[in-house]
Amino acid sequence: MHERRIRAEAIPEHVAIIMDGNGRWAERQGLDRIQGHRAGIESVRAVVRAAHELGVRVLTLYAFSTENWSRPKGEVDALMGLLEHYLEAEIEELDRNGIRLRAMGRLERLPDAARAKLESAIERTRDNTEMTVLFALSYGGRTEIADAARKLARDVEQGKLDPDSIDEKTFAAALYEPELPDPDLLIRTGGEARVSNFLLWQIAYTELHVTEVMWPEFRKSHLVDAIYAFQQRERRYGLTSEQVREGGAGKRS
Ligand code: IPE
Ligand code: IPE
Ligand code: MG
Repeated sequence: MHERRIRAEAIPEHVAIIMDGNGRWAERQGLDRIQGHRAGIESVRAVVRAAHELGVRVLTLYAFSTENWSRPKGEVDALMGLLEHYLEAEIEELDRNGIRLRAMGRLERLPDAARAKLESAIERTRDNTEMTVLFALSYGGRTEIADAARKLARDVEQGKLDPDSIDEKTFAAALYEPELPDPDLLIRTGGEARVSNFLLWQIAYTELHVTEVMWPEFRKSHLVDAIYAFQQRERRYGLTSEQVREGGAGKRS
């Protein structure tokens, strides 16, 4: 029903999602947290498919943060196992649908088996152009910014970069995925209105949408709701509403 209301010509190009609420969902069902994560995999499947159908070009999914490494070992191990399971089960369909898989974060911390599967999935889908699915894994926004600063400092040290030439563009080019546009829409499930160290640089002008729906219950209809809400917003980028209405001066690309 909702789908008719969203405008096909104004689908956000890049949607990012903080997939939160697996543990709480499970506890409410009398299940353990790990079963919540397992159920969350079904939502990943559904949302990747839905985003593709709706014409989203880039879907970034926050799957595991640098801080999540401090969770109980059993939970961390289970999450890594689920990552492997997801890649094994989905790579065929992703590839068939022309979806390019990417991952960003401190991937060297992932267990070897998970990392190997991830690298092979990335390699296999590297030339696909229908849509990009980017997993933020072992990811922290502050780490990403610090890593970029270190990279630029090295370039300066080696005489390849003039410090005076460093601006927003140079800096953005040193981040993990410089080719991708900034997210237009950031969805957080599970009801918390916080960013939890996700894409700190890239969300400067992203529209935020928090939903009470827990990640294991999130489906296409919820994505459509979020896109509908997004389409009601006026993105002003610091300008006045009048300026924006007079010729899209606020539009940035
Ligand atoms: C999100 O769900 C999944 C990860 C952070 C890996 P949570 O496990 O954080 O679920 P809640 O927030 O405890 O309900
Ligand atoms: C954010 O969720 C990280 C992911 C969804 C992967 P958390 O559950 O880790 O965030 P906090 O602890 O509520 O801020
Ligand atoms: Mg959480």
